[in-house]
Amino acid sequence: MVLSRRGSGSITLASGQTLAIHTRTHDEEDLPHATKKTMADHLRKYESRCVVHLQFRVSTNPKARSSFTLTPQRMRMIVEAFKDTLELGLAKPDQVVLCHVSLRPCRFITNAVPMIPTFVFGFPTGQEQGDYLAVDLGGTNLRVCLVYVQGEGKFEITQTKYRLTEEQKQDDGQKLFDFCAECLKTFIDNNLEADHRLNPGETLPLGFTFSYPCFQTKIDHGELIRWTKGFGVTNTEGRDVAEMFRKSLAKYELPVTLTALINDTTGTLIASHYVNPKTKIACIFGTGCNAAYMEHVVDIPKIKNLGIDDTADMAINCEWGAFDSFDHEHLPRTKYDTIVDETSNKPGEQAFEKLISGRYLGEILRLVICELIDEGVLFLGQNTYKLENPYVFDTAFLSLMESDPTDELLMIIGIFSHFFAVETTLAERQFFRALAKLIGRRAARLSACGIAAIVSKMGYLEEGCAVGADGSLYNKYPGFADRIHEGLVDIFGEKGRNIVTYHAEDGSGVGSAIIAAMTKARRNAGLYVHL
Ligand code: GLC
Repeated sequence: MVLSRRGSGSITLASGQTLAIHTRTHDEEDLPHATKKTMADHLRKYESRCVVHLQFRVSTNPKARSSFTLTPQRMRMIVEAFKDTLELGLAKPDQVVLCHVSLRPCRFITNAVPMIPTFVFGFPTGQEQGDYLAVDLGGTNLRVCLVYVQGEGKFEITQTKYRLTEEQKQDDGQKLFDFCAECLKTFIDNNLEADHRLNPGETLPLGFTFSYPCFQTKIDHGELIRWTKGFGVTNTEGRDVAEMFRKSLAKYELPVTLTALINDTTGTLIASHYVNPKTKIACIFGTGCNAAYMEHVVDIPKIKNLGIDDTADMAINCEWGAFDSFDHEHLPRTKYDTIVDETSNKPGEQAFEKLISGRYLGEILRLVICELIDEGVLFLGQNTYKLENPYVFDTAFLSLMESDPTDELLMIIGIFSHFFAVETTLAERQFFRALAKLIGRRAARLSACGIAAIVSKMGYLEEGCAVGADGSLYNKYPGFADRIHEGLVDIFGEKGRNIVTYHAEDGSGVGSAIIAAMTKARRNAGLYVHL
């Protein structure tokens, strides 16, 4: 038994399981807390380059090392591997196989990062105009917008948001699309028919932002490759989600025409370029994490057979969250990351996203805390059951902990006492804050690696470029953008300063509307399928 203080300690059972023990008597009132030194020692462990998977403890292979700290050298190795993966994704065609469960033909994605051609051809001219509807099905909310695109980078937007329940995220697909159609109906009744903005018999073009990987052969179709971000909606993977949504739109007799199916990153790329033409890349750092950029058709070997004009450009939805999935060869994963992965509804998948996105960061921190509780280091004698439920530690708590301006870290006191009913000491709070910083900083530096891979593949470093970024992590996590910029300098040296991220224009509302407008213009010019 390792005694960490009087009356407290931990024992390791023959099974390898650790049990924390604390004995308190009737006349002891104070709860035992870890000392400042204990917390500092633990922090060093998570910072050091050698906190590793047990099986790798003695390995000298740099790939095998993993901690929350990323050195510039390690980042450059990741960028190289990332770049190769992007190239491979553009080259290797996908295969269609028979799904062994449903026996329906389904797409077998042979590339870890699918690099999906979006059939969005080139950037907007800036002259796009008109009223467009947009429905945005993201990771957390459903949003419905009416966008009045005015040209010359101007627009006006009216929107409503609906929160998705956990049940809806696991229920039947057609039911989910019916819910989207029902919300759209309420919105139209309140905003369009009331304003008499729609004449009888007239339909409005609708851009549908569906922020999951979809295989596309046309702008208004898309087969869901796989759900991400914890969604497990049934009867949808392998099916055309645009078609499913159209069925729901017809059921509610809505006066709309689904013109474009887009990913949030593609929408962000187009919307950001519309207001800032220096934008060449768009990223989302929210519940999920992904990027899009504009590629030369001639450099997308896997669509050569379509006969698209070689001089055209097409936006690519990278789905980079899938980088290093299954093989786990390149990214430094701690044992907490492995647990997050293995206990998720999609083990092995979205390896990059699971180290970065808002859905997972809080959970990573919670797992570290739970380990220290089990080892008898934290919260001895206190009831910690509230901390023991997966995903209860919201990533927003990490943001709040990092931005706590008080010496006493009052915000952190509040989080732990209010949400988890446990008391903390200043030393523990400083430890939690430092841990949040390690996890948040790693996420930003890995994001820099992804951006650097696209920059380097496209040769944007010398002339520089703007990167439109959106999502709760980017917008609300203190210092996230600065840490990305710092990471870019670590990767590229001083030239890294040529790459600047900025808060993007609303991709799933404005971007989707502009893409719907671009598509309408192409259709009118007789260019529906491709150039
Ligand atoms: C997930 C989705 C992707 C989306 C991203 C950000 O990675 O697979 O399509 O762009 O989240 O929302």
